[in-house]
Amino acid sequence: MARNTGDEWWRSAVFYQIYPRSFQDTNSDGIGDLQGIIDRLDYLNDGTERSLGIDAIWLSPTFPSPMKDFGYDVSDYCDVHPDFGDIATMDRLIAECHRRGIRLLLDYVPNHTSDQHPWFIESRSSRDNPRRDWYIWRDAKPDGELPNNWRAVFGGPAWEADAVTGQYYLHSFLIEQPDLNWRNPGVVTAMHDVLRFWLDRGIDGFRMDVIGMIMKHPELADNPPNPNWKAGDRDRGRLLQTNSRNYRDVFAAVRGLRAVLDSYPERMAVGEVFGTSEEIGRYYGDGALDGLHLAFNFQFIQEHDSDASTPWEAATLARIVRNAEASLPAGGQPCYALANHDRSRFISRHDHDGRGRERAAAAAIMLLGLRGTPFLYYGEEIGMADVAIPAGRLKDPARIRTVGRDPERTPMQWTAGEGRGFSSVEPWLPYGPAVSNVADQAQDHDSMLSLYRRAIWLRKRERSLMAGAYREVTAAPDGVFAFERSAVGARPVTVAVNTATEPRAISLGPGPVTVLVATERALEGTVLNGDLVLPPLAAVMVGGS
Ligand code: GLC
Repeated sequence: MARNTGDEWWRSAVFYQIYPRSFQDTNSDGIGDLQGIIDRLDYLNDGTERSLGIDAIWLSPTFPSPMKDFGYDVSDYCDVHPDFGDIATMDRLIAECHRRGIRLLLDYVPNHTSDQHPWFIESRSSRDNPRRDWYIWRDAKPDGELPNNWRAVFGGPAWEADAVTGQYYLHSFLIEQPDLNWRNPGVVTAMHDVLRFWLDRGIDGFRMDVIGMIMKHPELADNPPNPNWKAGDRDRGRLLQTNSRNYRDVFAAVRGLRAVLDSYPERMAVGEVFGTSEEIGRYYGDGALDGLHLAFNFQFIQEHDSDASTPWEAATLARIVRNAEASLPAGGQPCYALANHDRSRFISRHDHDGRGRERAAAAAIMLLGLRGTPFLYYGEEIGMADVAIPAGRLKDPARIRTVGRDPERTPMQWTAGEGRGFSSVEPWLPYGPAVSNVADQAQDHDSMLSLYRRAIWLRKRERSLMAGAYREVTAAPDGVFAFERSAVGARPVTVAVNTATEPRAISLGPGPVTVLVATERALEGTVLNGDLVLPPLAAVMVGGS
């Protein structure tokens, strides 16, 4: 088995998430497509420091789908939605990525299908259909109540009555997203075959959607009430998810998926998982590391079971990393993101005083300095913020019962012009104000894009950043999160992030050090002896001279 050599490509890679509807439209339908991604690959990495320098792409779902949940409701796992192209375009995208040394991950959605998937259409057709048990069907309780008390993540009960057969089916998300029954061996085989279908075409791996939910309590026992829930909190927090998420049987199912990946060279999976740092750590497969290669730690976005966005505050950031480092099995590597298609964009989460942009720049330095595999969300590198969407143009059905996700999914801003370089027609979601865009920022050495490029390429040059150990600098002053990265035979790199809105003095050790990258560009290249005064909200990476 290809397992844990310590120098696998995904350990040193910078990943970039593309939301395909919003990256680049080439066929003038207002929706991004795969050809658009091909056309923009040189922007992502052309092998020179003029490009962003990312190493791998994760594509949000590109499969045929009724698009109730914008592709997370799959009706055919082994094809491409016509909005995005066809399988031949996908093959070309794979080839064009590989030609540039970029790896490509698809989004594997194992917990549920669309209600339009042929498997579900068969399953719901009669109680004795051979695929009946591929989904989770239950009678109402004798008193007419729902089969259990589970709630859908998007709000409301997780059960939908089906008139044809008089039973309820489980849907952990939308009514149009029935949950597959992973206790049925036919489902396991079919879903493993989906992985093989794409691995055979050259896909390098998968982001695995809500992987922690595929195995439920065998009797679907009620979830216990959450003792911390208060009136006014979100509905979905009312119950603990003890029996529907991170249930103990899920880890064996994950090992099964890993075995499929291990039968191909150099493939990987990153799981979308939620829970405490300990729960996240378990997805790596304990001591044997036979689980997922990586599991997302979203705590910089939102801490475990909190409705609030994580504050940009040094002590909190340090604690999150400390817990992540302590909870992974030996050889396990953290995986962090500052944003994704489900959460308000970083700048918007941290802009209460109008200084979200400064914090976003510092966050880039932190993310790219940490031990772990960083995932960037498209547009983050140009400082895109949430776009206020007029009520008539809202699209995300999740908004009906919980928070809609349209504002963070708007089209990439390539230029300032009409159509923003994205499309020649009205886009599926509005662009919002023409603010930051690739064309302008590419010319501007003080731009967010320039900072991202410098930090990403620096990371590739400094072995300590790519592969070094992590040590928190505990002597950092209040309001500064600082850590050192060091690898044998390479110069150590120290990262210091000032989350305070006042300057902070920090001592960076006895010998002279050089500022390698900084939010304040003027600091770069400065050689320091000892102390550095970090401007408000600034961040630096420094290395021995
Ligand atoms: C994940 C996806 C989200 C989707 C949900 C249901 O959380 O990131 O976008 O709505 O799963 O598939």
